[in-house]
Amino acid sequence: MCGIVGYIGYRDAYPIIVKGLQRLEYRGYDSAGIALYDGTDINLSKTKGKVEDLRNKSKSTISLEGNLGIGHTRWATHGVPNDVNSHPHYSNSGDLVIIHNGIIENYESIKKALTERGYTFTSDTDTEVLVNLIEEVQKTEDVMLGQAVQIALNQVVGAYAIAVFDIKKPDEIVVAKLGSPLAIGIGENEFFIASDASPFIEFTNNAVYLKDEEMAIIRLGKEIKLRKIQNDAVAYPNILELQMNLEEIEKGGYDHFMLKEIYEQPRAILDTYRGRLLADQGLIKMAGVDQNLEKFLNANRIIIVACGTSWHAGLVAEYIFEDLARIPVEVEYASEFRYRNPVITDKDVIIAISQSGETADTLAAIKLAKEKGAFVFGVCNVVGSSIARETDAGAYTHAGPEIGVASTKAFTTQITVLTLLALKLAKEKGEFSESQFHEVLTELETIPSKVKKALESNALIEIIADVYKDSPNCLYLGRGYNFPVALEGALKLKEISYIHAEGYPAAEMKHGPIALIDEQMPVVVIATKKGHYEKIVSNIQEIKSRKGKIIAIVTEGDEQVTQLADHVVEIPETSESLSPLVTTIPLQLLSYHIAVMRNCNVDQPRNLAKSVTVE
Ligand code: G6P
Repeated sequence: MCGIVGYIGYRDAYPIIVKGLQRLEYRGYDSAGIALYDGTDINLSKTKGKVEDLRNKSKSTISLEGNLGIGHTRWATHGVPNDVNSHPHYSNSGDLVIIHNGIIENYESIKKALTERGYTFTSDTDTEVLVNLIEEVQKTEDVMLGQAVQIALNQVVGAYAIAVFDIKKPDEIVVAKLGSPLAIGIGENEFFIASDASPFIEFTNNAVYLKDEEMAIIRLGKEIKLRKIQNDAVAYPNILELQMNLEEIEKGGYDHFMLKEIYEQPRAILDTYRGRLLADQGLIKMAGVDQNLEKFLNANRIIIVACGTSWHAGLVAEYIFEDLARIPVEVEYASEFRYRNPVITDKDVIIAISQSGETADTLAAIKLAKEKGAFVFGVCNVVGSSIARETDAGAYTHAGPEIGVASTKAFTTQITVLTLLALKLAKEKGEFSESQFHEVLTELETIPSKVKKALESNALIEIIADVYKDSPNCLYLGRGYNFPVALEGALKLKEISYIHAEGYPAAEMKHGPIALIDEQMPVVVIATKKGHYEKIVSNIQEIKSRKGKIIAIVTEGDEQVTQLADHVVEIPETSESLSPLVTTIPLQLLSYHIAVMRNCNVDQPRNLAKSVTVE
């Protein structure tokens, strides 16, 4: 989704903004632009394409001077990706420039009214309508920019994070947020604006995250004050000291963020259970759960809402909660849940899973569940994100920043948190004896080293990738706990290599996908020892007799499947309930290598966004 960067201070704004936009590239975008104030004029450059294209274009077309500027990466919603529709957008007078992430839903009626008043529009965007609405308010109400933004935003319906400045008042930038993220970095006599902290983390650790319906007038030499958009209530900003460091958001010697993040998983999983899992004391400590234990224990059921990879983590959790804690679970796509008038009561516990904590559909599902009186628990990676704030309680995954659009370490750390939660509830409900509980906790502690071992198959997986890199289709099969892993494996492949891939429960194959199997069809089968092994062996026989190519993920020392499959990747043995944390690793590596061999943009796949802040 769109990325926003802005700067006002004493440094050259251009390099800060361009580098910042590059840091936000992971969000997914199709065009980029920048507007700089050089002390006299606003210089604006924008283009379809990458930030690198913007850099090349702006170098030869505009002055790069100035200590005030805003920049944008656009993920098209209204209007095709082209130079004209890219942001920033001028107002008709040329005095105001704006960047916007989100959607103004009632832009057509506003556009019509403005057109009747003589305004003209060069782009197809809702954003150009908004900047002209602000200008119109400025003129008719005779107010300063901040007030004009406030009045204008009270007339729009939709979601936004915006930054706008006025050439007549070049010591301030006005920002506002509803639904899309916006952070302000606070330095010494300088301010940074960005969709997340990564563009400014090398300059300051102090940041304010705007809440929904808040705006700020960021003025040089003044302290930041936050205002409510609907009324004039002033809020004092909560300045956070960020823990993120530069190293975490750079590639650290890896060719791609995705590969770096795949390799970070042993550490990320460990960081996620560190301090929570106390195997020697037979304890799991999770503050957000401990404080709300009764809610969980008295729940009629748990409803998990999420999107994309996080939804797959939710499916794994369904197996864990039902199998170990004996709590009924439903797993819902947030986008469906929010619109289908679900039956929710105050006896339901909702778990919202989201890496970014900003996914619009998940946020809307949370709001709906809260309105109906349910207790909502969040599992997020990004600290301070909207979902983390909206939920009644929660547990962070401690994966660190995930930059690759295809989610990897977020998935395994989400499963880790949900496993801890399920085990804790199982113990509280008396589903485990002390010794069984101790055994499973001890086993969970072995997972980082097993993931590390699984990563050692990288070279073998690269060879397998080379064999299948040109296949037009691929099928992924798994059973039980590993059915969601099959779904996630297929999603990873299609996201980054654009090969059509489907995940299926292995036993369902005979009800449809088996018709697709011939000697051209690679079938990835998760066939580990624990969990329906004999059944999976039969499924593999069915594929083999139709000449399908079998790539099997097996337990170390496996003989039966090894004899049948065309390729096997061995992973260390684990209990069935913890196996998704390990079986998913070879599937991540397989999709990574295939995408690299197909020359795909692994970290920024076409059309995808890292965090989907519009519905
Ligand atoms: C996008 C991303 C996916 C992610 C999904 C949900 O589609 O490309 O990788 O799984 O959103 O995002 P969330 O941040 O809520 O986990």
